[in-house]
Amino acid sequence: MLLIMKSSHSGSLRISSVNVYGKGTLSTARRPSLRVNRSLLLIVSLMAFSLTAPYGAAQKVALSVDASKPGSKIDRNIFGQFAEHLGHGVYEGIWVGSDSKIPNTRGIRTDVVTALKAIKVPNVRWPGGCFADEYHWRNGIGSQRVVTLNPNWGGVIDPNTFGTHEFMDFIDQIGSQAYVSVNIGSGTPKEAADWLEYMTTAQPTTLEKERAANGHPAPYTVAYLGLGNESWDCGGNMTPDYYLSQMKIYTRFVRNFNPAQQDKQQMLKIAVGPGGGEPRWTEWTEAIMKAYQQHTWSWDINGLSLHSYTVAHGWPPSYASVGFGEAEYAQVLKTTLDMNDLIARHSAIMDKYDPTKKVALIVDEWGGWYAPLPGSNPGFLVQQNSQRDAILAALNLNIFARHSDRVRGANIAQMINVLQALILTDKEKMVLTPTYYVYKLYLPFQDATFVPVTFEAGWYTQGDVALPRVDAIAAKDTNGKLWLEITNLDPNQPVEVEAGLAGITPKSATGETLTAPRVDSVNTFDAPNTVAPKPISVKAQGGKLVLKLEPKSVTVVSVEQ
Ligand code: AHR
Repeated sequence: MLLIMKSSHSGSLRISSVNVYGKGTLSTARRPSLRVNRSLLLIVSLMAFSLTAPYGAAQKVALSVDASKPGSKIDRNIFGQFAEHLGHGVYEGIWVGSDSKIPNTRGIRTDVVTALKAIKVPNVRWPGGCFADEYHWRNGIGSQRVVTLNPNWGGVIDPNTFGTHEFMDFIDQIGSQAYVSVNIGSGTPKEAADWLEYMTTAQPTTLEKERAANGHPAPYTVAYLGLGNESWDCGGNMTPDYYLSQMKIYTRFVRNFNPAQQDKQQMLKIAVGPGGGEPRWTEWTEAIMKAYQQHTWSWDINGLSLHSYTVAHGWPPSYASVGFGEAEYAQVLKTTLDMNDLIARHSAIMDKYDPTKKVALIVDEWGGWYAPLPGSNPGFLVQQNSQRDAILAALNLNIFARHSDRVRGANIAQMINVLQALILTDKEKMVLTPTYYVYKLYLPFQDATFVPVTFEAGWYTQGDVALPRVDAIAAKDTNGKLWLEITNLDPNQPVEVEAGLAGITPKSATGETLTAPRVDSVNTFDAPNTVAPKPISVKAQGGKLVLKLEPKSVTVVSVEQ
């Protein structure tokens, strides 16, 4: 990847990054030679800034979008979700039971289904997480459910009333696809193979008959199969070699028999991948990809997972999810931008062994991870979700889009009531978070074709943290319409954007923006609309788009030509 950084006449930073796929990038972390440049540029930038820009004045940013150079498809699966048996993620968040007073369809809450349908969730990863490596699917089928414990997450009881059929019903109700993770840590290949046969066979086997007797004669579709979870840690503390020996057995024997998934729409098998950028993780990626390069007919994988949370001050997460200031806002966003280098680092290893990019990188756990809300069960990972999280989500989605040749799936952690949730519930109440609205704004980017954008980002600085003032991506949707997303990271100053468009002549444009009174503004059950998208005016003049971004905002623009 070629990274060009130079100061412009206005003292701002020019970020223009193009690789063979025409993708841009932002982060320069862990590149020592560039860091020096960056410091110098920061000083120059600050001098120019103090001379020319009074506090609160709009900054100008020029974007250049080249619609004539389409890149890779932005796989809709980068907008995937993760629902683990953890705290109130599944129980109460999705499942209330059919005798609940909370409106539901076969036990699944109606308000949550309506909200999720509206954002076209492409896939849901379930049942974990760490939970997956202790999950035994037979406990969650039939009329007599086995009550078990959930030692990973608070040691609470899992009634197993939400099992395979309930998950598949949920997926069906929201119009999504199943990403099922099998238990490698404490299960057996036979247990996992039986589960897949139970879910997917159309042949009259004993397991098929059992599924039919439990209410579902037709085979289920399983789009993704997770081969364990964090097997280097909570999934069994395995070495790469030990994991490989196990994983090969699972990919061989855990089969999908659904007749509709044999030639087309085959189930994609996702191996456990790295959990960071340190040597331990690069060695893990090396080991799996090297083995993949030499794989024989009897085993195969289609994806490698990557887990990376934004934890600003290291483990355990100590930053508050609400009631924080600008310093914590800037620090969290700085940390989250490391996702770009992390993906680049592991993609480079994957390129060595898989230059045609057959194996996808699936970032199937990511998001902001903060201190548990005071008074909550620390094992339930409860946190609020603020405008900072909306910006964090947009920055990460943009990074995934720029790497769309390799990153073909991602699952934010987690869907409801856990970590960076899209939805919060409390008994019969439900509220949509700022992160939810980002997913809504990004709907046109699902399966759209990436289009390169270059821009003068400028700097937003807070203390010793310097961040690009803006981020942006563009894409053509499946109907050929051009969409542009621009994030203004600066929480204090608006940005005047002038976007030059090559390859199309804009007739008109409309936009929606998501901003908030404060960096830590949240939606609550009592005030659910503090952070919600609103229309923004965009002028299409002289072949350009002109608009003004509010501070700390995420904006999506559609262009009529
Ligand atoms: O998302 C919470 C936990 O984080 C998951 O269970 C685990 O895979 C990761 O460590």
